[in-house]
Amino acid sequence: MDRIRIKGGRPLSGTIPISGAKNAALPLMAAALLSERPLALAGVPNLADIDTMARLLAELGVEIEIEAEGKGADRGLRLAARDVKSLVAPYDLVRKMRASVLVLGPLLARFGKAKVSLPGGCAIGTRPIDLHLAGLQQLGARIELTDGYVVAAAPKGLVGAEIQIAKVSVGATENLMMAASLARGRTVLDNAAREPEIEDLAECLNAMGARVQGAGGNRIVIDGVERLGGAAHRVLPDRIEAATYALAAAVAGGEVTLRGASALHLGAVLERLQAAGAEIEELPDGLRIARNGTRPRGVDVMTQPFPGFPTDVQAQMMALAAIAEGASMITETVFENRFMHVPELARMGANITVHGASAIVRGVAVLRGAPVMATDLRASVSLVLAGLAAEGETVVNRVYHLDRGYERLEAKLAAAGAEVERLRERG
Ligand code: UD1
Repeated sequence: MDRIRIKGGRPLSGTIPISGAKNAALPLMAAALLSERPLALAGVPNLADIDTMARLLAELGVEIEIEAEGKGADRGLRLAARDVKSLVAPYDLVRKMRASVLVLGPLLARFGKAKVSLPGGCAIGTRPIDLHLAGLQQLGARIELTDGYVVAAAPKGLVGAEIQIAKVSVGATENLMMAASLARGRTVLDNAAREPEIEDLAECLNAMGARVQGAGGNRIVIDGVERLGGAAHRVLPDRIEAATYALAAAVAGGEVTLRGASALHLGAVLERLQAAGAEIEELPDGLRIARNGTRPRGVDVMTQPFPGFPTDVQAQMMALAAIAEGASMITETVFENRFMHVPELARMGANITVHGASAIVRGVAVLRGAPVMATDLRASVSLVLAGLAAEGETVVNRVYHLDRGYERLEAKLAAAGAEVERLRERG
């Protein structure tokens, strides 16, 4: 298994290009199942999770062509779901990535049935899909759980309904929005998630001929249409990747320009970064983040659904809190059990106490490099950030977690002056 080695203590300086958003690209790829006409997506990041979704779609019979094998924002995928030959999403693929469950709504809406493995437990809590299933049932689907699979049927098609989603869920909102696009009549999704990726999906669905209004707000209205067509769509920039590099600059010190990052999607993160002492400037095509001279200050953070502080940036924020002056309280309200980075940061000298859903971080003047590993994507990257500020050498193991969500992480950081390299495992 590859590892990443960081020699800490160098401030960052340079420009980092932001890739297309993984969390937008995954539902967009699933949306290709809604139409027999091709969907061309531009700006699809080159990541392990994208490959997993492509494998799943290929297994169902979707033809996939890589349109432009350029770097980052230039990569395009053309997905044609003309000859869908299987309606089964198998355990082996769903287990690898929860977002696989996003094929359920589209398959059911277009073909009247689908069989999708339950995702099972995962490192950051139980993460059930009950909200997805309850919503689809309200659209008229019959759902059974057998042998670890969701077996869903709607032989006469789905029918629009007023759905009150019991808890804000990005995935459930996306699944239901896609399914409702092909349902008969009007669907209203109340208490919908408001993440920018949901707006991006709605924009693409509308380009395919759907009638979705209100995405980005907490009430989405979808008037079902009989069929959807093809479309071309560019994936929005990855706000979590941008936030991660913004935090890298705040942790390591120095100054970086994040090309393509949108301040509009990063409000809560930028506000907390400023409170911690970073300088932020909006540019026509991105953002500039700087922290020069003084030590960052501790700040309190509570994760919330968008537009609140993203849970996917909580671990990175903790790396900053670890070296800040004073204490920070970091509270995780979206997922249970999302503090796996805490013991690893502690091995580098961080002073962190966890009480239930909150972590008290008492900043220390120096972290020390160490061999570390983590069990999920954002936890792993927080260790890379801590390594940038630490004295000596940090080696992050299990890099496959990083490869799920960060395109060319070490190359992007190295181009901004960090001493980072990938140690490849031979064989
Ligand atoms: C998406 C993101 C993930 C991010 C998360 C929260 C993708 C591919 N992944 O995940 O990176 O961390 O949003 O911003 O976009 N829940 C239920 N029942 C359900 C569904 C969810 O109880 O049926 C709970 C979850 O356990 C969690 C909360 O709702 O506690 C939010 O989860 P959700 O927004 O659904 O996350 P994902 O869509 O899986």
